[in-house]
Amino acid sequence: MTLRLEQAWTGQWHFGLVNEGAAALAGFTLCWNGHCKVDPAAGIEHARLVRRVSNFTEVAPPEGFVLRPGAAWRFVIGGVNVPLRHWTEAARAAYVVLPGGATMDVTVGLCGGGEAGEPILGAVDLGEGRIEQGLALVPWPAHVAVAGSRAVPDGFVLPDAAADFIDLFQRLFHGEAFADPAGPVLRRAVRSGPGYSLGFGAELTIAAADAEGFFQGLVTLGQVLRAARHDPRCRFPASGEIADAPRFDWRGLHLDVARQFYAMAELEHLLAVMAWLKLNRFHLHLTDDEAWRFEVKAYPALTDIGAWRGHGLPIPPLLGSGAAARGGFYTQDDLRRLVALAAGWGIEIIPEIDVPGHCFAALAALPGLRDAGETGICWSVQAFPDNALNPAVPAVMEFVELVFDEVLDVFPGRFIHVGGDEVPVEAWASSPLAAGRDAAALQASLLRHLHARLRRAGRITAAWEEAAPGIGPDAAVLMAWQDHAAAVRLAAEGYNVIVALAQVWYLNMALAPDWWEPGASWAGYSPVAAAYGFEPGTGFADPARLAGVQACIWSEQMADRRVFARLVFPRLAAVAEAGWTAPGAKEFARFAAAARLLPVWPEGGG
Ligand code: ACM
Repeated sequence: MTLRLEQAWTGQWHFGLVNEGAAALAGFTLCWNGHCKVDPAAGIEHARLVRRVSNFTEVAPPEGFVLRPGAAWRFVIGGVNVPLRHWTEAARAAYVVLPGGATMDVTVGLCGGGEAGEPILGAVDLGEGRIEQGLALVPWPAHVAVAGSRAVPDGFVLPDAAADFIDLFQRLFHGEAFADPAGPVLRRAVRSGPGYSLGFGAELTIAAADAEGFFQGLVTLGQVLRAARHDPRCRFPASGEIADAPRFDWRGLHLDVARQFYAMAELEHLLAVMAWLKLNRFHLHLTDDEAWRFEVKAYPALTDIGAWRGHGLPIPPLLGSGAAARGGFYTQDDLRRLVALAAGWGIEIIPEIDVPGHCFAALAALPGLRDAGETGICWSVQAFPDNALNPAVPAVMEFVELVFDEVLDVFPGRFIHVGGDEVPVEAWASSPLAAGRDAAALQASLLRHLHARLRRAGRITAAWEEAAPGIGPDAAVLMAWQDHAAAVRLAAEGYNVIVALAQVWYLNMALAPDWWEPGASWAGYSPVAAAYGFEPGTGFADPARLAGVQACIWSEQMADRRVFARLVFPRLAAVAEAGWTAPGAKEFARFAAAARLLPVWPEGGG
């Protein structure tokens, strides 16, 4: 039996299930998933909706229908939650459920959208760009004054303190040397303030106040060396100095490991890329509706059940997975190792446990956390039913405390992220325990409680912008994502703000409006030049309230890592430069030239 699913988007979603096998098929249902969510109210022709949970859809053919060999069952979905704009938003995996309950995989065809073409998956080409002072550096430093050139060294004689950097260099550039016992000597010196100075001469010197600054100087030296080796327009300077310090303290990257699971090797590679770009905060989005990835010893069900999607499981296949169970989670030891690796490269990991919304997976694993008396269904914006932890349920407060106790134990850094985004206004409207209290007030009470707990532990609460009412500006940092006006308003209210604007810095947004570009466009599309050129500081009355910038990788469409590679590189580097380089010192053509030498996503994963 061979089944193939054809699909096309015309403003309605047209499907054809083609039977390419030798046997007829009857009494079956068809299940598919992908980013797009079917709107049950919009109607379906020639099919009946059996079940929809977010982007998982199950439909049945008309009563008595038989799918004969060589024939097709064609049906039309009348509407979806957000119209499709890119091929990657369509169905990406499908299977059939046979009358006895067994499943059979279905090959899914690409979804056409009316434009001729094929998926665009190669690297973004920004052209040759322009080389400045014979250097190719991202992010561009604060002061560059170098002169002359000398034979490109095979490497340097390095102090012991360079061990973590040598590890980084070897991971990123296999087979290329940075250390050479016969090369020029690199001396470590001391200077005050953030950043570093890198001096060129017979000897090289990196002066910095601390290990972080010394490491940043090594990254710059590594970039100078590689540019001299690989771009004939570049040189290794004979004399002069680079004196440098970052614009912002927070230069972040967020990765959603809930929608897709990333292997530890992939996380390590991403950390290495971050270090090479002088990014210093890795925001790890560990939980969401689609999966729970953080091992919690007090609640093994969270990962025994909540980390897996599949046919017949409490969480159905979603976002490109088939009938077979798929998923994974990180043990606490995995995460401790990651924290240590990141620390050696100047990166702090900020774990996010997203509460009280985006908790479908947690509630699937621990249904006892629900108010058993609830009657209605509240759909989240991503079309999950009843996905918010109800703060009026006593077991929820205990759950949150025990989970965050373990988070605090595993992650020693200053910041812990509590989520707080996208809680539906009707979240607990039918809960007798919530007794008509409004959702915003209930959410605020939970977040206030959590914030107090984190403060007692000496930590700073990080959260998405919607969490403001519960958290208050002290010992907190908020991420503004929906619009820039929110960032400015929250800063005026006294919050420390990180700009992570969806329209430009959500790296899952497509690069261009073309159907065959991968990604989504619900917040717009963001060409590399737009991501590079966006100025986060506009409108801030007190610039000190702008703590920094962050790129966000949401993974709904990242099951295919070629999609990940096209969307993330080199836009991540564009955000890194926004985080480091003064606005007046930025130049896109120079960035384009340097971007050619940056590490990318290895074929076949990290
Ligand atoms: C978000 O994009 N929901 C923070």
